[in-house]
Amino acid sequence: MSKLGKIKWLVENFFKDPETVKRELASYLLANEEQQKILDGFSENTISNYPLPFGVAPNFLINGVTYVVPMVTEESSVVAAAASGAKFWLDKGGIHAKIISVIKTGQIHFLWYGDGDVLATFKDELAAYLVGVSTHITRNMDERGGGIKQISLVNMTSQEPGYYQLHFEVDTKDSMGANFINSVLEECAQALPIWFEKNMATDIPAPEVIMAILSNYTPDCRVLAWVECPTADLGEMEDGLSAEEFARRFYTAVRISHLDPYRAATHNKGIFNGIDAVVLATANDFRAVEACGHTWAARNGKYEGLSNCSMHKGQFRFELEIPIAVGTVGGLTTLHPLAKRSLEMLGNPDAQTLMQIIAATGLMQNFSAIRSLVTTGIQKGHMRMHLHNMLLRLEATEEECAKALEYFEDKTVSFQELRKYLAEIRKSSVMPPTP
Ligand code: MEV
Repeated sequence: MSKLGKIKWLVENFFKDPETVKRELASYLLANEEQQKILDGFSENTISNYPLPFGVAPNFLINGVTYVVPMVTEESSVVAAAASGAKFWLDKGGIHAKIISVIKTGQIHFLWYGDGDVLATFKDELAAYLVGVSTHITRNMDERGGGIKQISLVNMTSQEPGYYQLHFEVDTKDSMGANFINSVLEECAQALPIWFEKNMATDIPAPEVIMAILSNYTPDCRVLAWVECPTADLGEMEDGLSAEEFARRFYTAVRISHLDPYRAATHNKGIFNGIDAVVLATANDFRAVEACGHTWAARNGKYEGLSNCSMHKGQFRFELEIPIAVGTVGGLTTLHPLAKRSLEMLGNPDAQTLMQIIAATGLMQNFSAIRSLVTTGIQKGHMRMHLHNMLLRLEATEEECAKALEYFEDKTVSFQELRKYLAEIRKSSVMPPTP
C-alpha cells in the first residue's frame, strides 16, 4: 500500500471518525515534503509524525565552557530540574567531566568442539587473520585512528559445551558505530570457518557461528562527571536546612540507592531523565544508552544507584561515572533536522564532548531530584509544572490558568482539587454582575 493507502485503511478500520483522524494525522506532517520524506525514511509504515517537546536547559558550565543543553522529553519538570541543578553549580566552579575510555564492544558467539587449549595457543594468529579479512571495511576508520583495537578469544566451554566468544574492542571515533561494528563482525564471522579449516585439526567440524553482533554493554566507553565544593558553600536550602544538614541528608539518599534496588531503580530513572533527553535531542540511540547504563549499574552483582557522593575534609563531591556510547557523525545525528540543530547549539561537539555533556545533564538531573527529595519533596515543584498540563486537560482559559497558578502557589495540587477550584471560579464568573 502507498502511504495514503495505509492511512485510509487504518482510519477506516480502527477509528470511529475516519475523516477527523485523517485530518489530524495530516496536521502533524511537515510542510516541507522533502524533510517529511527524510523523517519517513527513519522508520516503516509511517502515518504521521509524533511530536515531543524540544526544550533547552541553560547555564551548563562544563569544564569551563558554557552550554545550553537541548533536551527532548515528555515529562514536566525534567528540563527545569536540569537547568536548576546547572544554575546551582554555576558559581561553584560548574561541572567537571572527563573521558575515561572510548572503546566499544562486539562479539562473535560460536560453537566448536576441538581442543580449547590448542586453540588458545593460536589466538593471536586468529585475531590477526580476522583483522586482515575486515580491512576493506575498517580502512577509513583505521585512517581516522579508530578501528579494531583488540580481539580476544574467550573460552566459555565450562558454562556451555563448545561455546566460545571472540570479543572485539573497537574505536569508532565520532560515530556511534553500530553499523560499522556489525559489518566487521559479520565479515569476520563468515571467514571464521576458513581459518579453522586451515589451522585446526581437519577431523574436527568447522565452528558454527551462532551470532555476530555488537554488545550494547560498553563498560570501556566511559565518562565521569562531577561537582564539588566546600560543604559550607552549598548554602542554606530553600526550606531552611543548613548546608551541612543538607549534605548529610543528600549523602544518605545517594547511599540508599546503593543499598536498595527499589530505590536504585528510581534514582537511576532520574539520571536517565536527563541522559535520555539529550540522547534523543541529538538523535542518538537512547535504548542502547539505557541498556548499557543499567547493565553497568548491576556490575557488582546487584543493581545499584549510578551516582556517588562523598564528604571528605569539609568537601562535598557528587559524581556520575557511566558508560555512554553515542556519536556526533553518521546515523540520524546529521539527518534529523532538529538533531543537527541540537548539535549546533552545543558547538558541534565531538563524540567525547557529547558524552561529557550527556553525563553532566544526568548528574544535574540527579542532583536536583535528590535536593528536592531531601528538602521540600518533589511534589511541590513537580505538581506546579504538572498543573499546567492539568489545566489544559480541563480546558481552562488563560485567565483561569493565571488564577489557578496563583491560587495553588502554596498549596498541594491534585486533579480533583483543581477541578473543584475551576468549577468554583467558573460559577462565580457567570453570576450576574451586582447592580
Ligand atoms: C521522576 O521522574 C524522577 C525522580 O523520581 C527521581 C528520583 O526519585 O531520584 C524524582
